[in-house]
Amino acid sequence: MTALEKVGSPPTRLDGTALHDWDYLVQEDRAHRLIYTNPAIFEAEMTRIFGGTWTYLAHESEIPKPNDFITRRMGLRPLIIVRDAEGRLRALYNRCTHRGTTLCRWDKGNTKSFQCPYHGWNFLNSGKLRGVPWPEGYADDMHDPKYNLAQVPRVESYRGFIFGTLNVDALPLLEHLGPIAEIVDQWLDRNPGGKVVVCEANRFRYKGNWKLAYDNSCDGYHVAYSHRSLLETENRFGGENAKGMAYYRNSPDAQPMYMRYTGHGNHFKDKRPNLEQRPGGLWALESAHPGMEHYEAEFIKRYGHRAFALLDLAGSEPVNINIFPNLSLLGNHIQVFEPVSVDETNAIWYGTMIVDEDGSLGDDAVTDINALRMRTQEGFPNFGEVDDIANFEQIQRGLMAVEDEWVYMNRGFGIPGRVKTMEDGTITAPATDEAFMREHFKEWKRLMKARANFAIQREP
Ligand code: FES
Ligand SMILES: [Fe+2]
Repeated sequence: MTALEKVGSPPTRLDGTALHDWDYLVQEDRAHRLIYTNPAIFEAEMTRIFGGTWTYLAHESEIPKPNDFITRRMGLRPLIIVRDAEGRLRALYNRCTHRGTTLCRWDKGNTKSFQCPYHGWNFLNSGKLRGVPWPEGYADDMHDPKYNLAQVPRVESYRGFIFGTLNVDALPLLEHLGPIAEIVDQWLDRNPGGKVVVCEANRFRYKGNWKLAYDNSCDGYHVAYSHRSLLETENRFGGENAKGMAYYRNSPDAQPMYMRYTGHGNHFKDKRPNLEQRPGGLWALESAHPGMEHYEAEFIKRYGHRAFALLDLAGSEPVNINIFPNLSLLGNHIQVFEPVSVDETNAIWYGTMIVDEDGSLGDDAVTDINALRMRTQEGFPNFGEVDDIANFEQIQRGLMAVEDEWVYMNRGFGIPGRVKTMEDGTITAPATDEAFMREHFKEWKRLMKARANFAIQREP
């Protein structure tokens, strides 16, 4: 006899109260479809997650000089990230205090003040209202701080990565990052001077919820299936040597790579143990790109014995670092997830360059390395990200089946000894486990339940 699953009346078994029953919606091994599809839940996330915890805003190299600015978002709030005239980093609301229009319509630039395009109110880049046209028309004291721009009260940066939160009780950024900071250090420290400079981006928009990208960020289970065409290309180029993600092709869990959850929603997938530690070892793993052999031959001709160490600087670091809720460092790229609506998200891949401040590499080598780093955007971001985005869009469609309510994240769950808690409290599991997702959802739930102490700031 066929097993029938009883369903309530459409659209859902949940009533109004259950909509905010976070323990019901996110359980240990499964999550309810509504957290990906419900506009009211999305709206709550835009405050409690994007605002309630440290959110990545921009990179310091994008605003290196005093008075530099770049426009970004925190959740749906439009922001202007500035390095003010005193050199202080600020995240101003890009919202005129007069009638609410966005104040700055440029993506980036350098200015000491912003003039509103609507009625011409003028604000210093500290957020202070500098003046209004024909002030005699106001009886009110226009020096009242209530007219100054709102700004994010806490903005901190860790090694160039600028984060902000509205939660005045949030831990200091470094404490919040905890063990993931060390992995970020390793990602940076392989570069000269331990630095990267962010350059322009490869921008995607997909019709799916923002969490679908974060749920996929540490997923080693899908690779062999979702990225099959990319793996086949890599296998063709790589022969017996594992190229790119080719080590996912047989039994990924038998490989030395692993996933680790480090707390506060952050995790990383460490594929570095699969790597042979020698000059050129990283480059040998690099995914196939058009014209790659030609580049390699040119490097050897130009740089002789230094060539392979230099090529490693262009190679993609085999670790995916995911910082909840919106930042991933993958290969040479910085990926940022920007929610647009409950079923629409921007996935932006910023390229990065190396810098040679002490001149030890030489200008030619730096230019060649950076050209090649840029070309690594032709690998995964173009041939892999599209596979992932197709999945995200198809999940969003699948989740429109209202009676079939749950998505499962139970791979590796309940098998004794498989998921290990380390001495420092971090959690390790084989590469294909969904332990990372179960853990970041605990953080999601914690934030959705919390009544954080939110504030905005206005300059006096
Ligand atoms: S809305 Fe900005 S000056 Fe009126
Ligand atoms: Fe993927």
